[in-house]
Amino acid sequence: MNFSASSLNFTILPYQEGITPPVTKPNPGFLTDIGEEGMRELLNRFYTCLFESPIKGLFPQEIDVMKDAGQTSADFFIQICGGTPYFNQNRGAPQMGRRHAPFAITPDARLHWIICFEEALQPIINDKQSSEENIQSFWDYINVFSIWMINARA
Ligand code: HEM
Repeated sequence: MNFSASSLNFTILPYQEGITPPVTKPNPGFLTDIGEEGMRELLNRFYTCLFESPIKGLFPQEIDVMKDAGQTSADFFIQICGGTPYFNQNRGAPQMGRRHAPFAITPDARLHWIICFEEALQPIINDKQSSEENIQSFWDYINVFSIWMINARA
């Protein structure tokens, strides 16, 4: 049997109040590897997970509305990975801090959010849809940037 060692590190950065580490965008290669369709499927899995998660109360309560929200997020992630700027075209400037301000995002909510991303990424890892280096850069981006979105105490 061939157990190839994985170099992926999905450690979740601990949140420390007042500390926002510098954000690095994901490698464009992640999008090149999985394609727009792959990104849309990733965000569909992610929003399906959120819909069933302990933080589902933050999100739309109708599955169809939730799926649409997932595709708006896919627009964002395609754009942040250097692809077509769908988010800017459809929603305007990202201004993520402002857009998240109406929702109480606690350190705990961020953990549930990122755990859903870890789950949603599994098919990409298992089917080797992208290189470990590119998957890692995507993880590092959401790991750090999700800290920036925390705007409420536990
Ligand atoms: C830290 C935990 C986070 C929580 C709990 C959270 C929660 C939410 C909620 C409740 C919404 C509104 C419903 C929706 O449109 O989906 C939203 C929107 C969105 N979030 Fe997050 N979010 C988090 C982090 C992030 C991060 C790190 C990113 C990007 C890297 C991100 C990207 C987006 C985008 C693109 C939208 C859509 C904005 C729009 O349509 O105007 N979120 N988020």
